Amino acid sequence: VARALGPLQSLQLALRVGEEGCHAVQHLDPSACKSSTTMPGSLPVNAEACWPKDVGIVALEIYFPSQYVDQTELEKFDGVDAGKYTIGLGQSKMGFCSDREDINSLCLTVVQKLMERNSLSYDCIGRLEVGTETIIDKSKSVKTVLMQLFEDSGNTDVEGIDTTNACYGGTAAIFNAVNWVESSSWDGRYALVVAGDIAVYATGNARPTGGAGAVAMLIGPNAPLIFERETGLRGTHMQHAYDFYKPDMVSEYPVVDGKLSIQCYLSALDRCYFVYRNKIRAQWQKEGSDRDFTLNDFGFMIFHSPYCKLVQKSVARLLLNDFLSDQNSKPENGIYSGLEAFRDIKLEDTYFDRDVEKAFMKASSELFNQKTKASLLVSSQNGNMYTPSVYGCLASLLAQCSPQQLAGQRIGVFSYGSGFAATLYSIRVTQDATPGSSLDKITSSLSDLKTRLDSRKCIAPDVFAENMKIRQETHHLANYIPQCSVDDLFEGTWYLVRVDEKHRRTYARRPV
Ligand code: ACO
Repeated sequence: VARALGPLQSLQLALRVGEEGCHAVQHLDPSACKSSTTMPGSLPVNAEACWPKDVGIVALEIYFPSQYVDQTELEKFDGVDAGKYTIGLGQSKMGFCSDREDINSLCLTVVQKLMERNSLSYDCIGRLEVGTETIIDKSKSVKTVLMQLFEDSGNTDVEGIDTTNACYGGTAAIFNAVNWVESSSWDGRYALVVAGDIAVYATGNARPTGGAGAVAMLIGPNAPLIFERETGLRGTHMQHAYDFYKPDMVSEYPVVDGKLSIQCYLSALDRCYFVYRNKIRAQWQKEGSDRDFTLNDFGFMIFHSPYCKLVQKSVARLLLNDFLSDQNSKPENGIYSGLEAFRDIKLEDTYFDRDVEKAFMKASSELFNQKTKASLLVSSQNGNMYTPSVYGCLASLLAQCSPQQLAGQRIGVFSYGSGFAATLYSIRVTQDATPGSSLDKITSSLSDLKTRLDSRKCIAPDVFAENMKIRQETHHLANYIPQCSVDDLFEGTWYLVRVDEKHRRTYARRPV
């Protein structure tokens, strides 16, 4: 019954299951969702029979700033060779925030938009997790700021706080949320995960790889985007490195070793893919098949995207991994044609090997076009959002593919956070692509993505630079009233009104 219902109805079903044991009761009005403070016996009575099915992403909302700087203009302004940012890094526009927005306002905006767009009541959320590396307070979490949105509902029974490790925090938050829904702690309500960051760099070669934004994801059972659970289908690699970190507590800027960060990213991808493939192969062996997993087993492949060129190189890297582990392939045929010379190379020697990179970029170009290119819309137009980056890629994919193209596909997801922590996992898209299905709903809800990106305001590089200077000088101040206008913010955007003498922040919202 739950499968046949939409997400909201399924939630109601779950809640009813909690109240009445495992009797499937249809209860369709989301506003009737009771506050947990008054909801009796919310834990499933018969947990085994009620094990939630197909836990994953039920709804997704993305927010990015309403202003951007054009990368071609930025190349001229910075005095670098034409094409360095646009062709070399693959970036066309970069979103940025004025002093009116901070991590709290970004998350307030995206959460309220998700709740409104899906007509959800705040009572329906039992867990709220925030993944971010934009730290404005060493103690108070962004999650607690978001609890302001819950006040009218009276729902304070909401687990979860913030998670931080560079761009990986959002993924850690999602895993916590999925694990909660699949655990004995689950009380039948949705989890909500928010990934948000303001990615800004000091002037210099890293600055064009900035960006800003937030993604909110509703996690629950009977989802259109299902987290594959069989035998822990996740490949993780974590290691100590100083590739990118933020040791200066009063600066928004990271300390970056750009080349090392690329090496760490690519080595993490190799390791995660190795672990993921081994796990899935072991699973297939149990089922009687002894074939290897290859890139072709992903219908789509999305990546944390610091800049688009690195993602394209990552697809090439996965093909290189497939090639090196497939000792029986006949290179004269098919996709490996012309690659024989690379048979004996070692992965760890090739992070910056131009010949290997060029050959495998060429060999994988069609795979990139089919499986990954569409996912780079937000990344190329808005830049690196840090924790939401890979989920912005998911939003881009959902916005540009039809439910029929997506149905039944396995989406590979590579999440990387410097320092470093990385996981490759997969999402299985539901088979049901019929109009009105949960898949149809999530793709429809993102169908205005391109229009929203196109409606942003282009800001000249000198004004952008001035804006960065204002942030640099003021983002940490007490007793501060932001100077920038709120007129051009998208409707429904939360913004900073003032920071008082005790660093307490007050926000207001642009009318919808
Ligand atoms: N036309 C076309 N391409 C050009 C041109 C031109 N005129 N000029 C340069 N290029 C190419 C370069 O060949 C290079 O391509 P390649 O990587 O394929 O060799 C690319 O543009 C970039 O040029 P570089 O000289 O390598 O750039 P630089 O070293 O100045 O900065 C870097 C790049 C290191 C990515 C920097 O922007 C940075 O530090 N960013 C932040 C760190 C980062 O994003 N790391 C990634 C993982 S960690 C994370 O997500 C934060």
